[in-house]
Amino acid sequence: MSYNYILVAKPEPSVSLITLNRPKALNALSSPLFEELNKALKDADDDDAIGAIVLTGSEKAFAAGADIKEMQNKTYADAFKTRFLGDWAQLFTIRKPIIAAVSGYALGGGCELALMCDIILASPTAKFGQPEINLGVIPGGGGSQRLAHVIGKSRTMELVLTGRNISAQEAAAWGMVSRVVGEGEGEVVREAVEMAKVISSKSQIAIQAAKEVVNAAYELNLAEGLRFERRIFHGSWDHVFAELKSSPPSIPALPGVGPR
Ligand code: HXC
Repeated sequence: MSYNYILVAKPEPSVSLITLNRPKALNALSSPLFEELNKALKDADDDDAIGAIVLTGSEKAFAAGADIKEMQNKTYADAFKTRFLGDWAQLFTIRKPIIAAVSGYALGGGCELALMCDIILASPTAKFGQPEINLGVIPGGGGSQRLAHVIGKSRTMELVLTGRNISAQEAAAWGMVSRVVGEGEGEVVREAVEMAKVISSKSQIAIQAAKEVVNAAYELNLAEGLRFERRIFHGSWDHVFAELKSSPPSIPALPGVGPR
């Protein structure tokens, strides 16, 4: 399938690499771009050979936000009737881990898109922020909520109320990204692909279950989350025994477990 606003590649047989590709608009997240992104994510999710997905942009911009030119003339009624930005939620139906490899600007919707991914790796050039306040609006893709979960109220208020951008190093210190990776061009993508390859080498059932339970921590209270984790954990043994019974086992031997 050919795309106009993204590139899709397989840098490893088990890794899908999706690159946002609207360089002239700094990867502004227009509706057609998001439609293509959702399609590519679903294709990767449906492909048994793929174990993890890397999402990236350019050196200058992961994404500079939702497309201001597309949004600026929309009335409330237009936005409501067309469920504007509603299809962003499709990203949550993806069961395979998505790693954001961020260089350059990740602003507004771009920052929110990175936050929707499961892991964020940042290059030293990355800049995160929610500058919507400078346009007289507020975040609409989950920024106020997800940032508050991840970096706390005071820091979220600071970003959302002042529109200040933060550096990769500050984002790492605040726990927003896993780590800052490499100096050279493309280094963050290479590292993300390596990480995706490691993830792909594990039991895919366990990986998808792990993603589900960690994400549940952002939706459930602690008691519900612990109960949910335990149920999924109990269930996860089924496939371990099933795979141990089949020969040869495709997962590493577990000490003391199974008919060995
Ligand atoms: C549409 C955008 C854009 C955006 C940049 N461009 N950001 N187009 N939507 N969000 C376009 C510019 O219009 C310009 O196109 C080209 O990209 C290059 O941008 P410049 O401004 O010339 O580049 P530069 O001087 O290097 O400045 C980079 C920048 C600046 C600091 C990132 O572009 C900027 O401030 N952009 C807006 C960032 C922002 O406000 N994001 C939040 C959007 S609201 P032309 O054709 O003129 O050359 C949002 C709401 C989320 O995300 C709601 C839920 C998802």
